[in-house]
Amino acid sequence: MEEYRLPKLPYEYGALEPYIDEATMRLHHSKHHQAYVDKFNAALASVPEFRAKVKSAEKLLEDLNAVPESIRAAVRNHGGGAVNHSFFWSVLSGERQSPQGEVSQEIGRKFGGIEKFKEAFSASAAGVFGSGWCWLVAGAGGLEIMTTPNQDSPLSFGKKPLLALDVWEHAYYLKYQNRRTDYIAAWWNVVNWEQVEKNFRLAMKR
Ligand SMILES: [Fe+2]
Repeated sequence: MEEYRLPKLPYEYGALEPYIDEATMRLHHSKHHQAYVDKFNAALASVPEFRAKVKSAEKLLEDLNAVPESIRAAVRNHGGGAVNHSFFWSVLSGERQSPQGEVSQEIGRKFGGIEKFKEAFSASAAGVFGSGWCWLVAGAGGLEIMTTPNQDSPLSFGKKPLLALDVWEHAYYLKYQNRRTDYIAAWWNVVNWEQVEKNFRLAMKR
């Protein structure tokens, strides 16, 4: 695979105000995400023959056991960080959106309604100990809420992410300090439900 590139955000740094502030977005994307990308690329550069055979960063995360041991932890942490953040930016939007489409119906069926789903997801996100992520994923049993520690990806557990929430302190501390639950409540206002629906349709096609 080629070098992993930091994706350009599909909106301005200030587009998610007031829910996620511009300073946090700038730092999160240009410093934190960039650092994961750089360290991921450095790890891959140390195994050029293996790297040449790699199809994508996502494929690497889907099968960590196939990754050379010398870079396995770096791929899990920095590759995970690179991919997770690219995904995270894609499921955020400055245009206020409502749950829509088939994914909205499926959430309703699985969780007993959108509000119940939001409650369960918010509780899971609030309950992540230390640094990690909360996800809506498609797995063998349909839709699930799952959490991962650090930069672990649902892809490494055979799940397809549909929606992600970064609950590392770097994602909210500037504006919300220790009030993670306030950040979570605000974050629902910037979910890109149109993208979640696209992710759902793609996941169902496999
Ligand atoms: Fe982050």
